Amino acid sequence: SALPFTGHGIWVYFLCLICTETQPPVTNLSVSVENLCTVTWTWNPPEGASPNCSLWYLSHFGNKQDKKITPETHRSEEVPLNERICLQVGSQCSTNESEKPSILVEKCISPPEGDPESAVTELQCVWHNLRYMKCTWLPGRNTSPDTNYTLYYWHSSLGQILQCENIYREDQHIACSFALTKVKDSNFDSSVQIMVKDNAGKIRPAFSIVPSSSHVKPDPPHIKSLSFQNGDLYVQWKNPQNFYSRCLSYQVEVNNTQAKTHDIFYVEEAKCQNSEFEGNLEGMICFMVPGVLPDTLNTVRIRVKTNKLCYEDDKLWSNWSQAMSIGQKANPTFYITTLLIIPVIVAAAIIVLLLYLKRLKIIIFPPIPDPGKIFKEMFGDQNDDTLHWKKYDIYEKQTKEETDSVVLIESLKRAAQ
Ligand SMILES: *[C@@H]1O[C@H](CO)[C@@H](O)[C@H](O)[C@H]1NC(C)=O
Ligand SMILES: *[C@@H]1O[C@H](CO)[C@@H](O)[C@H](O)[C@H]1NC(C)=O
Ligand SMILES: *[C@@H]1O[C@H](CO)[C@@H](O)[C@H](O)[C@H]1NC(C)=O
Ligand SMILES: *[C@@H]1O[C@H](CO)[C@@H](O)[C@H](O)[C@H]1NC(C)=O
Ligand SMILES: *[C@@H]1O[C@H](CO)[C@@H](O)[C@H](O)[C@H]1NC(C)=O
Ligand SMILES: *[C@@H]1O[C@H](CO)[C@@H](O)[C@H](O)[C@H]1NC(C)=O
Repeated sequence: SALPFTGHGIWVYFLCLICTETQPPVTNLSVSVENLCTVTWTWNPPEGASPNCSLWYLSHFGNKQDKKITPETHRSEEVPLNERICLQVGSQCSTNESEKPSILVEKCISPPEGDPESAVTELQCVWHNLRYMKCTWLPGRNTSPDTNYTLYYWHSSLGQILQCENIYREDQHIACSFALTKVKDSNFDSSVQIMVKDNAGKIRPAFSIVPSSSHVKPDPPHIKSLSFQNGDLYVQWKNPQNFYSRCLSYQVEVNNTQAKTHDIFYVEEAKCQNSEFEGNLEGMICFMVPGVLPDTLNTVRIRVKTNKLCYEDDKLWSNWSQAMSIGQKANPTFYITTLLIIPVIVAAAIIVLLLYLKRLKIIIFPPIPDPGKIFKEMFGDQNDDTLHWKKYDIYEKQTKEETDSVVLIESLKRAAQ
């Protein structure tokens, strides 16, 4: 039983004689930039490699990132040239990752000249509905406020670098938009390279690379119909153009004005159980909202975003769609009744108030008795004398209480009789 073991041991020993033998390093490693930031490293095969070795090249960035083993003597990457980036290259005789490669050779590329602080910051681009791209940025530090910025962009279907035409201000940001269309089924899958610099060459250029399947903000969808069926609310809407339904995620907001509820439904797969809506209309989507009260007013809005099925990121929601309402507003006869009742109540209240005020006035300012009338009855036509006396009488009685004057009048009446 010792023999097979020995044989095996010898075989392993033999293999390792080859595998530990490392190749000489690659030669003439150089780097160049095309377009805005397509960086290409090229090298020549090592001198004096063993003739039985089929050469492979291992390459990776600074800290062993993006390792690749290829037979080609070049490597191209799109890298935003905002910082120094270095590629290390070695040769080996197989694709085996655990094979020890030759001594690694390194070549770096530095950002363009200029003060790093002067470069624009927060350079961000959003691809609106796969129709146009809008980039925004903030001025760098210590830059003149009248700096004239230019934005250049490039992607593989363009064939050349273009300049963004109209740059405008948006609050503190500076922005520029350019047309960039991806229609359904097109195989546009190139990243977009962006560079922002100034006309005078006083600031350091800033770079950004927007992958073809990220930073996409769809247009809002359009609600087509709302309907109640068996106590459920069915919402039907049309997706924004340029998107497959399966590539979008949805949010349906239902506000109930009476119950004052605000519900948001996350729709991953939009489909109605109801067969009526399954007529496969292009871009039409249906969703069933359970437990909505039909006899109250419900307001519905929808928004969409790209999902991980087709896109690299899923961060940007579209704007909300226009709101649509269904259900009954508060009972209209109730409104009419209130419309009629309110003036009646107000009028009644005013009358009561006036009456109350009158009473109050009676209590505070007792009415002055008018004995003149009584005298008129008593004496018929009056002469100047009686008038004089009457005036005097009134003056005297003014401060007395109402009852007193009544008593006085009574006694006067009696006396006259
Ligand atoms: C490296 O480049 C130089 C000049 O471009 C050339 O003469 C030399 O042969 C190259 N070395 C190899 C190994 O190809
Ligand atoms: C290369 O392989 C051939 C046969 O395939 C062999 O005769 C030769 O000795 C090998 N050379 C080295 C350096 O291993
Ligand atoms: C790679 O090499 C190691 C030994 O160095 C070996 O064990 C392994 O099987 C090899 N893998 C492949 C895919 O050849
Ligand atoms: C920017 O352009 C305007 C008008 O073309 C010019 O007056 C201004 O001096 C420029 N700013 C700089 C910093 O060159
Ligand atoms: C989204 O809303 C913002 C702010 O109201 C508006 O400026 C923008 O035009 C809207 N976008 C679309 C695609 O409707
Ligand atoms: C629904 O209610 C929420 C929270 O009260 C509010 O923010 C939103 O604007 C409402 N939606 C509509 C369409 O009024």
